[in-house]
Amino acid sequence: MNGATNPTAGSGEAAALDYQAGFGNHCASEALRGALPQHNSPQRCPYGLYAEQLSGSAFTAPRASNRHTWLYRIRPAATHRPFRRLDQAALSSDFSAVATPPDQLRWDPLPIPALPTEFIEGLVTFGGNGDPAAQSGCAIHLYAANRSMTRRAFYDADGELLIVPQQGRLLLVTELGRLLVEPLELAVIPRGLRFRVELPDGAARGYVCENFGAGFRLPDLGPIGSNGLACERDFRTPLAWYEDLDAHHELVAKFMGRLWCADMDHSPFDVVAWRGNLAPYKYDLRRFNTIGSISYDHPDPSIFLVLQAVTDTPGSDAIDFVIFPPRWLAMQHTFRPPWFHRNVASEFMGLIRGAYDAKAEGFMPGGASLHNCMSAHGPDAATFESASREDTSTPQHLADTMAFMFETRCVIRPTRYALQSPLLQSDYLECWQALKKHFDPRQP
Ligand SMILES: [Fe+2]
Repeated sequence: MNGATNPTAGSGEAAALDYQAGFGNHCASEALRGALPQHNSPQRCPYGLYAEQLSGSAFTAPRASNRHTWLYRIRPAATHRPFRRLDQAALSSDFSAVATPPDQLRWDPLPIPALPTEFIEGLVTFGGNGDPAAQSGCAIHLYAANRSMTRRAFYDADGELLIVPQQGRLLLVTELGRLLVEPLELAVIPRGLRFRVELPDGAARGYVCENFGAGFRLPDLGPIGSNGLACERDFRTPLAWYEDLDAHHELVAKFMGRLWCADMDHSPFDVVAWRGNLAPYKYDLRRFNTIGSISYDHPDPSIFLVLQAVTDTPGSDAIDFVIFPPRWLAMQHTFRPPWFHRNVASEFMGLIRGAYDAKAEGFMPGGASLHNCMSAHGPDAATFESASREDTSTPQHLADTMAFMFETRCVIRPTRYALQSPLLQSDYLECWQALKKHFDPRQP
């Protein structure tokens, strides 16, 4: 059992945050000693708290995929006023509004806004697939913000949120405790969990994958064995933390693709103790144990898989979260950057820092690219020419880089915003036009 540090301290004291280690564990945490009852729903809970269950899977889901948490809170989550529609044109779950081109697409980074903008206001949808109503598919958003959310909480009934900061730390104040997340870390917020985003560094920018379907899990490792890739112990879940604040709050919900807002007369972050395995977590991408070839050729990029959201078809995932971390390239007699390819899956890429080894220029930290089902892509002409002549007798260190991919089974359909944005690079295709013909039938 864990006692939270400074249960009544302001959330600005984020530097001292402690966490529980592990992935998908059944955790138990209390911010006041004795707040967690001995069984789920006593006739009267300690300290006059209310008991409430949050279910993240079917009640009868097999134990390995069953996710639920019991919350012991000052007031039940139902104590809010009616919802009213909130207009936010840039956020969308409708991916059929514009025709989906097969073009390879790339965008410049979102600018940090000039006007005060909170995390939720700074979200723009670039694309997605499926439908939150059918609980399948995903939406891909980028965010740029510069103001902390105050007296405002958000929850997403449409999906789980995988947040990938690129610039600026995020303090995620959730019902189950606080997570401080920095660039080169990720955070996952379960469907329905209320949270607010504070910005300790001011400006913040990054990426969000909204997962409408089954929650993210760690992949099986097959012949790799019982160790490697992302390790369970490197995932961090918060300790119980609460504020007892009787003051007006707004509760913003994303429900069936749209935003709604309700008034509350108290803070929703009033959970004093909890126990369960449906909880937010963070992971440091620098802890990834990267696997690669030590002879010749490349393995498929599935060796870079951090988290996966599976479907009913084994091996065919709704979402794979894949990273391209710093690593040594040791393979000899091999074209070392990623190869030219066409993929039945669709690939949305982002860059957190440095450069990506398939693109000499144009793919910037904070930017994004989309290569959809069967759309041809690969290294640009400059990368091809230099890598074809490289000395492969010695290993090469890719030191300053962290790219990632949201790879999905279904086509990622860009939104009108993404297709009409001035951030869209109209000259992206030019990166392959300079690929020369080297073929000579007299030169084997
Ligand atoms: Fe690709």
